[in-house]
Parts: sequence; C-alpha cells; structure tokens
Amino acid sequence: MLGGTGTLGRQIVRKALENGFQVRCIVRNKRAANFLKEWGAELVYGDLTIPETLPLSFQGVTAIIDASTTKPEDNTELVHVDWYGKLIVIELSKYAQLKRFIFLSILNSEKYPYITLMQMKYRIEKFIKSSTIPFTIFKYAGFFQGLIYQYAIPILEQKSILVTLESPTIAYIDTQDAAFFCIKSLSIKETENKIFATGSSQAWKSEEIIELCEKLSGQKAKTQTVPVFLLKVFRQITGFFEWSLKISDRLAFIEVINNTQSFTSSIQDTYNSLDINKKEVLELDFYFREYFEMMLTLLEKLNAGQIKKNQTSII
Ligand SMILES: NC(=O)c1ccc[n+]([C@@H]2O[C@H](COP(=O)([O-])OP(=O)(O)OC[C@H]3O[C@@H](n4cnc5c(N)ncnc54)[C@H](OP(=O)(O)O)[C@@H]3O)[C@@H](O)[C@H]2O)c1
Repeated sequence: MLGGTGTLGRQIVRKALENGFQVRCIVRNKRAANFLKEWGAELVYGDLTIPETLPLSFQGVTAIIDASTTKPEDNTELVHVDWYGKLIVIELSKYAQLKRFIFLSILNSEKYPYITLMQMKYRIEKFIKSSTIPFTIFKYAGFFQGLIYQYAIPILEQKSILVTLESPTIAYIDTQDAAFFCIKSLSIKETENKIFATGSSQAWKSEEIIELCEKLSGQKAKTQTVPVFLLKVFRQITGFFEWSLKISDRLAFIEVINNTQSFTSSIQDTYNSLDINKKEVLELDFYFREYFEMMLTLLEKLNAGQIKKNQTSII
C-alpha cells in the first residue's frame, strides 16, 4: 500500500484489514504512520523520491494499491512523486508477479493536458494499460472530505467562498465508500484491466452544496462570484494550474473550467461491475447532516463552557 496515511489511503488500509488482508504500508515517516500499525498493518520505510528505498518492500506482495500523491506542504515538485515515483513503482510491480495493481486517478484527466497533475495521471494510466500488469484504475472527481474545507468550514467561520455562475454538477464520494470499491474489486476477476468512474449517485452543483450547508448550519454563506472567463485568462497569464495547492483546492478550480456532462451513467456501470447497490453508497446530504450536527453540538458545548467560566470569574 502506497499513500496509506492519506485521506483515502487510510480508509483503504482499514477496509483491507477488516476484510482479512495482510497489509504492508510503504511510509516515509514510521512515527507519523504508527496508527496504521496499531490497526494491524506492517510498516516499511519507503519514499517515492528515493528509489533505492522501494524494492525490498515489493517482495512477496500480491496486490499494490497506490493512493500516494504529492503533498503541497512538502515542497516536492509534482514530477518527482506523481511521475518518476510512479514509473519506478510500475517497473518494480512488473517483477513482483502481482495479481492486481490499483491506481487512483482523476476524472477527465485526459481532457486537461495543460494541468501538470492531470497530464501525469493520464500518462501513468496509459503506461499501466500498456504494461502486462493486471490493473484496475479508479477515477474520482473529489471526496466529501475535501468539501468540508471548501464549503462547510468557511460557512461556519463566515469566510468568503469563491463561486462561478457556470458550475457543473459533480458526483463526489465519501472516502470510506471509495475504499470499499477498491477492496471489493480485488475479489472480482471482471474488474481486472478496467477503468472505473467513481462517485456517489447524486451529483451536485456548488450553489446546491452551499444551499445545503446554509440550511444545515443556519448561517448565510459569504459568496464571491468570479466570471469563468477571468479564471481562464488568469490561468493563461500566470500558469495558475502549476501551483501546488491541496488537490481538493485544485479540483475546485478544475470545476470551473470543466464543461463536460455529468457522468451518472458511468457511475452506474461501476456499481454494476462491482455489484454495489446505490443505496449502500453514502450521499453528500447525509454526510453533511452528520458533520453539522456534530459541529453545532460541539460549538454549543464550547460556548456553554465559556459562559460558565465567565460567570465563575465574575463571582
Ligand atoms: N483528494 C481528491 O479530491 C482526489 C480527487 C481525485 C483523485 N484523487 C487521487 O486519490 C489518491 C488519494 O488522494 P488523497 O487526497 O487521499 O491524498 P493525500 O491525503 O494528499 O495523501 C497523499 C499520500 O501520499 C503519500 N506521499 C506523498 N509523497 C510521498 C513520497 N514521496 N513517498 C511516499 N509516499 C508519499 C503521503 O504520505 P505522508 O503521510 O508521508 O505525507 C500520503 O499518504 C491520489 O492518487 C489522488 O491523486 C484525489
């Protein structure tokens, strides 16, 4: 397992262990990854930017799930992890006699060659397809977890949210469900050498997500509308999409230039191939309802505690 400490990766590790797999995680920092060991995974040191740290960890594995990607806070250029790192992983996988290599990519990666990460994802997809390794590729538009930072927290903190007038509908997914899809695919032979568009069955426009957050939080969002043409011009002038923000932020901007149709039918194909009933997949409104209930209860308790403390100090 690569990227086992990440947002999606940790859910994959947990799901794999729950399903009785033995899991070996290649991690850069064993101390930070200790929680994976407590769950039952084996930890081995490895860094995608240091090729010589990798070969030993590939010995004896039957499947590799690669959920790693460049972390913006690392100061590492994308190319070292998401291109050279992946090429090494694919090369090592050829000698490991794998039953499956699972790669995680971004939806519509083939349509944005001018966005470095998208270009690398697409080229790696092609590279895997042309290899002899049995593979499965899952492609996502984004995770529910990223929407917390993009919409829920700014609304609770009364900070501005950038929106455009022409936002497309996007089917995001909960990382627990995405992990379930990955692990389930390992036991379904027909998912071998296939690429799956992955999301929950309901797609959302950003204004609908904001409306939902407003309703659940009881707060009005502070939105700033940006014309799409301005972002496109901005991109041309500055090479805006080269920046190394967190992927969810990058995808937020990809949203505004994404003019493709909703991919609901491809998602249904994914459910059919994996024998998943769409009712089993968490929808965004349920996810947000739980989040806001938890946050509002917490804030209420904090405020009550604060009032009590103030009263005590007055007495
Ligand atoms: N987030 C989204 O909205 C989204 C959308 C579409 C596709 N995806 C894809 O889904 C996958 C998971 O994304 P995520 O958001 O869960 O990622 P994430 O939370 O940013 O985690 C990235 C993982 O990669 C590891 N990593 C980074 N540099 C490394 C290196 N040099 N050597 C070894 N490991 C390294 C990190 O380890 P450390 O703990 O050591 O930093 C971490 O475990 C990625 O392939 C991503 O491209 C994500």
